[in-house]
Amino acid sequence: MAQVLDIAGNDDIPEGEAVVVPGEDNETGKDIAVFHAEDGEFYALDDNCTHETASLADGWIEGDRVECPLHATEFCLRTGKVMSLPATESTFTHKVEVVDGRVLLHPGEAVSDAVRK
Ligand code: FES
Repeated sequence: MAQVLDIAGNDDIPEGEAVVVPGEDNETGKDIAVFHAEDGEFYALDDNCTHETASLADGWIEGDRVECPLHATEFCLRTGKVMSLPATESTFTHKVEVVDGRVLLHPGEAVSDAVRK
């Protein structure tokens, strides 16, 4: 059974914002960005862009996509699929859910429709 992390109350992360769960705090060893999208849903991706070194949590959420703050590649928040250049590699999507008002992250557990790296 994968580790489950209680990272915040669902009101603690405003819509359109993201927080980073550091790699040393989750079992993947990689920083994970948890996004609160404008549709009210929560999504989690590996935080570092697959192109170069940039935090996707610092990017811009547009619908179900996040745009990298460095060179503007877009990734699908639901699947991790790369949607535009210059990055060409999709990213990993971690399961996240809200239970009793708490945001629970399942590090390393891919969502069902995620792209497999
Ligand atoms: S670092 Fe993200 S697109 Fe270049």
